[in-house]
Amino acid sequence: MKGSDRLRRLASYAFVAALVVAAVSCNEAHPNTTLVPHSDLGREIDFLWDRLLLLGTIVFILVEGILVYIVFRYRRRENQGTPPQTHGSTKLEIAWTLIPAVILVFIAVPTVRTIFITQAQAAPGSLSIEVTGHQWWWEFKYPEYGVTTANEIYLPVGRTVNFRLRSADVIHSFWTPQLGGKRDVVTNRTNYMWYTPDTSISSNVWNGFCVEYCGASHANMRFRVFTVSQQQFDSWVAGQKLPARFGAVASVAPSGGPVPPSLAAPAVTTPPGAPRAATPSAALAGAAQSSVAAASTGAVQAGYIFPREKIPEYAVPHSPIPPDLKFTAGLTGNAARGKQIFSSSACIGCHSIAGNPAAMGVTGPNLTHVGSRSTIAAGRFPNAAAYLALWIKNARKMKPEVIMPTLGLDEYDPVLKAKVTAAGGGLTDQQIADIVAYLTALK
Ligand code: CUA
Repeated sequence: MKGSDRLRRLASYAFVAALVVAAVSCNEAHPNTTLVPHSDLGREIDFLWDRLLLLGTIVFILVEGILVYIVFRYRRRENQGTPPQTHGSTKLEIAWTLIPAVILVFIAVPTVRTIFITQAQAAPGSLSIEVTGHQWWWEFKYPEYGVTTANEIYLPVGRTVNFRLRSADVIHSFWTPQLGGKRDVVTNRTNYMWYTPDTSISSNVWNGFCVEYCGASHANMRFRVFTVSQQQFDSWVAGQKLPARFGAVASVAPSGGPVPPSLAAPAVTTPPGAPRAATPSAALAGAAQSSVAAASTGAVQAGYIFPREKIPEYAVPHSPIPPDLKFTAGLTGNAARGKQIFSSSACIGCHSIAGNPAAMGVTGPNLTHVGSRSTIAAGRFPNAAAYLALWIKNARKMKPEVIMPTLGLDEYDPVLKAKVTAAGGGLTDQQIADIVAYLTALK
């Protein structure tokens, strides 16, 4: 073998070794890994995976070792006649029936054990969350507290949560890789899944996904799980239970005791806008300003909300904005006017806002506390005025085939293949800026 050939072969071995090392070193730098579970359910599944991987590796090495040995030991040699032909061997037949049977026992026992554990009912006293999969967003209800939200779940660490999984349309699948799952969300059937977030993961954010192909925006059907302390959870629930309000700053103490200073509801000090992930274009600047106006009208944050600045990079959306979607710069939204426009337009046909008797729709996400959420469009964009304005203007350009209609006046609706007219309820950029000011104020 020439020196350069040997070098090339060595290089390829090194490359494969590097790949293997990279593949097995999944840790916190890989936020969507299943190999670092943070719940009891996740650990059960991880245990089974590790056990089967070990057994499978042993079987593979033994079988391949014997195969390679036989190939070399009994390979055809020069001047060799036909070897003796045998037919049937009772010993051999028994051996290769028994060996796989024994191997199967070693695989079946932990597998069946894990199935029983993961299919068992949740412990009594678990936190119940009703999950409904929609094309393409997640509805979450906390029946114990009368709270309805969308695309974001808050969970107190150390308490078992019992998910009741149902679909409003087609088959979806509910998965938070680092916490547990996945389980299908099926029409005409209720599935259940439970897990207990480890107490060590307080103040964390986890990505969740739909993992069953469910149509054009399947990949845009994401959610976030915020694991928080019991006290933060109580405060969050207290805030979410209140009807939507804006115009006065109020504070709600959690039922569990006094609020630590860091949790007390602050007056709005930062504009809800200012997207962290992407730099909005100049055309977006006008909408971003409307958020400043919204803040000045007095957004209400009644309960704990996971601080935006603490949300890790992997949980911040980076979806591109359609290049042909523009918004008038320099507009200032007025929340009170926005509420009026919202309450007399198509919005109320699909969205509910507790505290706004005009808004009772149930087709789309409940917007009662939409200003407290970190993303819009099921995790596709950051929840910031600039994105919200474009979303209202032409959602179908922002997220393929979304049910949310195009509302911007003179905008082209890619599903209806027509322009939105004034007679058809089209909204001007100023009207949209007003609605954005209203919605971002709904903390
Ligand atoms: Cu829902 Cu994929």
